[in-house]
Amino acid sequence: MRMTRFRSDVSESEVTPEGLWLRRREFLQLGAAGAIGAILPAAGRAGEPTGERLPTVRRVELASGETPTRWDDVTGYNNFYELGTDKGDPRSNASALRTSPWTVRIDGEVKQPLTVDLDDLLRWFPLEERVYRMRCVEAWSMVIPWVGFPLSSLVKRAEPSSRARYVAFTSVLDRERLPGQRRDVLAWPYVEALRLDEATHPLALIAVGLYGRVLPPQNGAPLRLVVPWKYGFKGAKSIVRISFTSEQPRTTWNLAAPREYGFYANVNPAVDHPRWSQARERRIGELRKRPTLPFNGYGTEVASLYAGLDLARNF
Ligand code: MTE
Repeated sequence: MRMTRFRSDVSESEVTPEGLWLRRREFLQLGAAGAIGAILPAAGRAGEPTGERLPTVRRVELASGETPTRWDDVTGYNNFYELGTDKGDPRSNASALRTSPWTVRIDGEVKQPLTVDLDDLLRWFPLEERVYRMRCVEAWSMVIPWVGFPLSSLVKRAEPSSRARYVAFTSVLDRERLPGQRRDVLAWPYVEALRLDEATHPLALIAVGLYGRVLPPQNGAPLRLVVPWKYGFKGAKSIVRISFTSEQPRTTWNLAAPREYGFYANVNPAVDHPRWSQARERRIGELRKRPTLPFNGYGTEVASLYAGLDLARNF
């Protein structure tokens, strides 16, 4: 992944005041009940959200009240190498991804392996809206109103055995149709993984939509992983398989460049990428850079997962 420049048209926002962080913690304590019914800001002048609307049971705001990044940017500035390596390629090539029919294989260290049709899987859990910051390892970031369900619900339903310690997520493989998979830019299919305790953390999400609409192909339709305290590359798109393992899975970016992309990939301003600083980031739509926060600002919730771990070595 390389650094990319992009057009900016809004002046700098300040770093989040303390009071808003406290509010975020309150949301977690309240189970987000207080956030039901809040209204999203308009998508902005450039384009309104499109696509089928999704019903949600609640809204959880976990981005300190920051305005979500414009729909046009969330769906037009993407990393999805299966659809091309330039930021605009995934939207241009979106039609190459066939999202129906779609099945997900759940296997490995589970009570009963199974293949589930997406429509059935979507009936398993109520959908909710989760507004999260997303920080890419390339030092840009967004605020995204996802629609999805907690990964922990799916893990529970899968009934992992006592031997399960990790969960691997495999993205779609379709060399015939996906233009990016005709070249060996990465070892296809794209695989990412979490420790089981990370996967069952309440912030880990399986997203099926954004801005209240069905996920566009370029954002990883029909379902993708969202782990807001980690660099964006952990969030595997267009998932076809979820495997529980006892050994740490081999993951795509870590295999491609182990010194640049660690297994943990927790957002960490103190550990630079070998080719650029991670201390600051550019929020898409803003002019100036802002400081990057440890665990992308979710440290209160997740830091205990890494107690005793040297985060400079286990990056
Ligand atoms: N998943 C797959 N299958 N292929 C990819 O190239 N890119 C990752 C991640 N998931 C990627 C992927 C990276 S580097 C980032 S930053 C996010 O998706 C980008 O998600 P977005 O385009 O929805 O913002």
